[in-house]
Amino acid sequence: MKKIGILTGGADCPGLNSVIRAVVRKSIDEGWVVTGVKNGWNGLIENDMRVLDYRLTSGILDRGGTILGTSRLVPPLSKAKNKIIAENFARSGMDALIAVGGEDTLKIALELFKTYSLPVVGVPKSIDNALSGTDYTFGFDTAVNVATECIDRLHTTAESHHRIIVIEVMGVYTGWIALEAGIAGGAHYILTPEFPIEIDKVCASLRARHKRGKSFSIIVVSEGARIQGFSDEEIEKKFGKKHRVGRIAEIIAALIEENTQYETRVSVLGHIQRGGTPTAYDRIIGTRFGFKAVELVKENKFGQMVSLRNNKFDSVDIAEAVRKRKAIDQDLLEIAKVFFA
Ligand code: F6P
Repeated sequence: MKKIGILTGGADCPGLNSVIRAVVRKSIDEGWVVTGVKNGWNGLIENDMRVLDYRLTSGILDRGGTILGTSRLVPPLSKAKNKIIAENFARSGMDALIAVGGEDTLKIALELFKTYSLPVVGVPKSIDNALSGTDYTFGFDTAVNVATECIDRLHTTAESHHRIIVIEVMGVYTGWIALEAGIAGGAHYILTPEFPIEIDKVCASLRARHKRGKSFSIIVVSEGARIQGFSDEEIEKKFGKKHRVGRIAEIIAALIEENTQYETRVSVLGHIQRGGTPTAYDRIIGTRFGFKAVELVKENKFGQMVSLRNNKFDSVDIAEAVRKRKAIDQDLLEIAKVFFA
């Protein structure tokens, strides 16, 4: 019999409860006991844990967020904190820990694995889909679907009012949500952090579209995209706003209006992309990730993360998964460009 722990760290996302439920059910099947660590790594710092059973994990499959709670801890943690986590883990009597999270949570897991040989297995979570070593992270599909529905709704009002609408979606370092929701929602331009925004090009294509008789346009931009040719100081001087996450759509909209005189509006989708019910796809891959994580524990494959590659559930070194962020698919971007303006 084994005693294992599970924690969910970093930003929440739809599908976390599917993973927790699968880990608990599969473990009970194995005759193991599962302890839920509250609020990510903080639960191991503060010794906040409780045993999870059938009752606590029933009826949660369709619920967004995480029943365990979460916290954002940015790596590297101090040596003192790492030591407290390792000591509390040892004291808890757990044989292994499943850490469900994105880059930050997994970097902390890796540090503890390397320094204290903490027997940890990772599960890749992120609405941004930015982790390497896996084609998909759970949460991403739901975010894309939510963003697509919003784009559809903004489409009709943009058309009625002959306006440009700039829609800002999440994605600080990578533009996966912008690219996929942009394609699905028929965006006329998609701007991502991987490529600096060439505002003159954007405006030229909007003008060309207007010449063709289309008096409205939809632009989807990732929150982390940057504008070419403008330093942060120039942006701040010109717009009185810092060039940072949560502001880019406003800045682009102002530049478009200034350049084209087309009436422009902004819609920042924000945390709505992270809340609510997971899609069927996220529930399924969440369930499969959880199931596979327990199998990795059984095989003592510590320091590994569950991965989904070419439709197969496998594992990869956590070190490999967090080494570099996974940039958007170039082929997909080329397809999207055919529909620009
Ligand atoms: O890391 C995922 C993410 O959703 C980013 O795209 C976003 O900027 C960030 O989390 C915001 O999270 P919070 O406001 O909860 O810190």
